[in-house]
Amino acid sequence: MNAMVKVWDPLVRLFHWSLAGLFLANFFTEEGELVHRGFGYAILVLIAVRFVWGWIGTRHARFADWVPGPRRVRDYLRQRLAGRSRRQLGHNPAAAVMILALLAGVLLVGVTGWLQTTDRFFGEGWLEELHEVLAYGVLGLVVLHVLAAVGESVHYGENLVASMIHGRKRALGQDAAAGEKTAPIAASQLNDPIARQE
Ligand code: HEM
Ligand code: HEM
Repeated sequence: MNAMVKVWDPLVRLFHWSLAGLFLANFFTEEGELVHRGFGYAILVLIAVRFVWGWIGTRHARFADWVPGPRRVRDYLRQRLAGRSRRQLGHNPAAAVMILALLAGVLLVGVTGWLQTTDRFFGEGWLEELHEVLAYGVLGLVVLHVLAAVGESVHYGENLVASMIHGRKRALGQDAAAGEKTAPIAASQLNDPIARQE
């Protein structure tokens, strides 16, 4: 049995799959009706909770752990394209950019949905249009997000989607060195060229 390390706490996993389910379901609910609005508001609550958790949550849930600066994103992409990138326990910098875009996008969809119910903006055609365009735009990002999750899983030789379900990833020596509560396994089992040399 490989040593495993806990990465995604239950709140992150519940947040992720509830967000994914409610977001996708809202393309099939009656537009603007009670269920649609309810799902939309539930999504806004989820994002608010996740925002707080990003400050006070467990190690890999925190923004400080995974929100990268431009240089980290650039370096990661360069190394990834050259086949020299290191597998990360938390979100990798490229995934992080997508995650921030998804969170911001979903937030905007929810807010433009809510605004349509206010006296000020009720019946505004452009807002309805914007809401719909944003919703489909975020849906496009979701497609890329899922393809990337599968692609990165194949590249690194570990199932990232399963990790988002059970919360664990295989541990490497470098993870133990970084203070994770874990026993390391052979680095050769993961596609991480630097760890293999260590
Ligand atoms: C955050 C998740 C949401 C998603 C993915 C979403 C998605 C969509 C989509 C795709 C449409 C266009 C449907 C169509 O024309 O076939 C739509 C319409 C609409 N949505 Fe949302 N929505 C969300 C949240 C909300 C919220 C929070 C509200 C209000 C509280 C809302 C209110 C409306 C209304 C009133 C319409 C009808 C606009 C019109 O008459 O064209 N939505 N939504
Ligand atoms: C249904 C198919 C989906 C799959 C298979 C999937 C897969 C994943 C995976 C594997 C991760 C972790 C990435 C990593 O290891 O760095 C992740 C994170 C994330 N995904 Fe998805 N995703 C899906 C749908 C969605 C949808 C529909 C949304 C939003 C509209 C979304 C938003 C996010 C967010 C915000 C995170 C970060 C979670 C956190 O740190 O709290 N995902 N997703």
